[in-house]
Amino acid sequence: MTDGQCNARSRAAVVGAGRMGHGIALEAARGGFQVSIYDTQAGRAEAAIAEARADAADLVAAGVIHAADIPSIIGRLAPANDLESAAAGAEVVFEAVAEDLEIKRGVFARLDRAAPAAALLLSNTSSLAISDIAAACERPERVALAHWILPPHLIPAVEVAPGPQTSPATIEAVRALLERLGKWPVVLEREMPGYLINRLQFALLREAMDLVGQGVASAEEIDRAVRGSIARRMPVMGLFGQADLAGLDVYRQIFRYLAADLCRSAGPPQALDDAVRAGNTGAAVGQGFYSWSADQRDEALRRRNAELIRLLRADGGG
Ligand SMILES: NC(=O)c1ccc[n+]([C@@H]2O[C@H](COP(=O)([O-])OP(=O)(O)OC[C@H]3O[C@@H](n4cnc5c(N)ncnc54)[C@H](O)[C@@H]3O)[C@@H](O)[C@H]2O)c1
Repeated sequence: MTDGQCNARSRAAVVGAGRMGHGIALEAARGGFQVSIYDTQAGRAEAAIAEARADAADLVAAGVIHAADIPSIIGRLAPANDLESAAAGAEVVFEAVAEDLEIKRGVFARLDRAAPAAALLLSNTSSLAISDIAAACERPERVALAHWILPPHLIPAVEVAPGPQTSPATIEAVRALLERLGKWPVVLEREMPGYLINRLQFALLREAMDLVGQGVASAEEIDRAVRGSIARRMPVMGLFGQADLAGLDVYRQIFRYLAADLCRSAGPPQALDDAVRAGNTGAAVGQGFYSWSADQRDEALRRRNAELIRLLRADGGG
């Protein structure tokens, strides 16, 4: 149980309160921070607090908090009228605004002036370079990546990376902060496109979508294969642990005849292009690689979260 580990005056800010921001705010409040939430969209910060309250029930189910903790955790979340008042007095600012370099640079330039000099300024960018974001700041040494994964309250890993100007002290402070929040910081030595988690995820997706495009197997068949095989071992073994168990000599042999045949296309896979061009952009519109009714989408999210809760409970509550 990790409710309320901070000094009562510890302050954090979350800027951008959409899909990611409300979950990050919940995790910061669970760690004891007083969290100011700012979003340019009127009413969004208030809505984010309601979403965080709903998500807190998942944390009760996962054994991370007690139901009786919810009022004090949610009581530490407050909407802010502007970015400057959100950042004032914050030890750490989590940025989760739209994935647009100009918007993020504008936000960081203002945070750089408004937050205390020692504050950590952390971007949740999925794809942009920290160096490009930090270039908008007078103090780029305290700017770093802290990339949370959806849904942030149920996924333990948070990817951390420096830009070329980020100080080692900043990275160590981010690592310590995330550990204090009960997360698993995954610290990279340097920035790179896609950082770590998206590089791995998209490497697998490129191959899977290419196989669909080649007509080797349907998306449904490939998902059945993944869910019934490699995904079963991954929660326990990761990649390298599994390779060691299987035998590295065997894996080298497989790479020898397989590597040259794996997909190496430089652009989006054809099957993905085709789906998007046809307007089939996924569950939100009712059609992606699968057909979705609203009920099926809700049920899939419920089952996914139930499994994430089960895993978090198995971890001993994060
Ligand atoms: N959705 C995901 O699965 C996911 C996962 C990891 C990282 N990310 C990253 O997190 C960030 C946010 O993604 P999201 O999915 O939560 O987006 P979202 O669109 O749900 O939320 C973004 C929020 O930022 C607000 N906003 C835009 N400009 C702003 C500004 N200048 N100041 C304050 N608020 C502003 C918007 O009103 C919106 O509420 C992006 O950088 C994204 O790449 C997303």
